[in-house]
Amino acid sequence: MGNVPRTAAAYDLTGKLAIVTGASSGLGLATAKKLLARNARVICTVRDEKKGVDTLNKLNNNNAEYMVLEMDSFDSVKRFADDFNNKYSQLNILVNNAGVAFLPKFEKTIDGYERTVCIFLRSNI
Ligand SMILES: NC(=O)c1ccc[n+]([C@@H]2O[C@H](COP(=O)([O-])OP(=O)(O)OC[C@H]3O[C@@H](n4cnc5c(N)ncnc54)[C@H](OP(=O)(O)O)[C@@H]3O)[C@@H](O)[C@H]2O)c1
Repeated sequence: MGNVPRTAAAYDLTGKLAIVTGASSGLGLATAKKLLARNARVICTVRDEKKGVDTLNKLNNNNAEYMVLEMDSFDSVKRFADDFNNKYSQLNILVNNAGVAFLPKFEKTIDGYERTVCIFLRSNI
């Protein structure tokens, strides 16, 4: 660990593109803030347009944008991937943060998977 750079300049992410999933709150929002503070362009994924606007208001940074992504719908995942690929040709940082904890009851998604498994596993594949 002796060679780990310690200066802010060493962590300058100018020109880098990041995706943070589940950036509307909690760890995702905090991660988006940190990446923006290091000059990355950050795509914040959110579950609907209103959360997108709210998230951008909280971040207040022109390098942030939002895209809608519902991790429990393969349709939404595919739409997101298509939209991303149409707009960008590179991705430097992916923070697979979106998730849930302790859903109160067993539920299946529209695609037939248990919701937690779908959000954490299937949609990321
Ligand atoms: N905090 C902890 O102590 C802890 C411990 C272990 C693991 N984790 C994991 O770390 C991650 C972030 O935790 P957190 O505490 O920051 O949780 P959080 O505040 O509840 O944030 C979770 C994020 O995931 C999004 N999300 C939930 N379901 C989604 C879905 N179906 N599709 C797309 N996005 C979805 C939420 O969107 P909405 O705002 O729309 O709900 C929110 O932006 C989670 O994956 C969690 O399981 C956290």
